[in-house]
Amino acid sequence: MILTSNTILITGGSSGIGLELTGRLLDLRNKVIICGRSSEKLENAKQIFPGIHTIQCDLSLPDERIDLASRITRDFPDFNILVNNAAVVHRDSFLNGHQIPEKSRLEVETNLMAPIVLTKLLLQLLMQNNRSAIINFTTGLIYAPRAIYPFYNATKAALHSFTRVIREQLRDTDIDVIEVQFPAVNTPWHDGVPPKIAISTEKAVNEMLKGLEKGKPEIHVGGVKKLRTLSRIAPELAFRKINSLD
Ligand SMILES: NC(=O)c1ccc[n+]([C@@H]2O[C@H](COP(=O)([O-])OP(=O)(O)OC[C@H]3O[C@@H](n4cnc5c(N)ncnc54)[C@H](OP(=O)(O)O)[C@@H]3O)[C@@H](O)[C@H]2O)c1
Repeated sequence: MILTSNTILITGGSSGIGLELTGRLLDLRNKVIICGRSSEKLENAKQIFPGIHTIQCDLSLPDERIDLASRITRDFPDFNILVNNAAVVHRDSFLNGHQIPEKSRLEVETNLMAPIVLTKLLLQLLMQNNRSAIINFTTGLIYAPRAIYPFYNATKAALHSFTRVIREQLRDTDIDVIEVQFPAVNTPWHDGVPPKIAISTEKAVNEMLKGLEKGKPEIHVGGVKKLRTLSRIAPELAFRKINSLD
């Protein structure tokens, strides 16, 4: 994959891995558009990287996905790379937690439905342009779920499955469909208490970009490769290991 002169939408590029990726892709002379719910976070990103374009939107809401896709189509006709990065997580007890239906719905809408619907809404434009790609972010937890997250693992396992299917269905088009599976990464996602094994956003994005340059369809960042292998040889051990992390 050629990592320069693209027009890229990074959903949720105002924080963590998305923000790091935004900076790296700008340095590589790409046009970068980011979106997110909080205008404050978007403004902050714009102060750090004045060259970016920002669009405020809540991807958990169907109408706002349609608005976002219309704006991209209207204002960025050369758009050719969609990075489905935005996601949310709840750390909760399914037994004693409150608002379980609402929280699970928010995760399914943001982590799974938004990538599916945005892909569909932007597919025509991606087909028209050259060197197009859809890049979906998942996690090593698709191989062994972490029990503190009642819904997150499931939403990402579903996104992994969807990604494999559209890669197959789009095989005869020029669109690359790529999945990037991250290990724990030290971002605001962890509310200031990342697992000890968390890697930096810089390392995570470096490995991702190397994988993209090599043309890999599925990129296993950091410890994900080992977890994937372990989950195949000894699935129970993989599950116990992932659930004993500090
Ligand atoms: N950090 C990790 O340990 C880790 C590990 C494996 C995979 N990942 C994956 O990497 C991706 C990025 O994670 P991160 O750690 O960088 O998270 P983060 O720092 O919490 O950033 C999440 C981004 O998504 C945006 N977002 C959330 N809900 C949104 C919505 N409804 N509409 C639009 N934007 C929304 C947030 O902005 P607003 O809040 O302003 O909306 C923010 O910009 C996610 O897909 C995550 O699953 C992370």
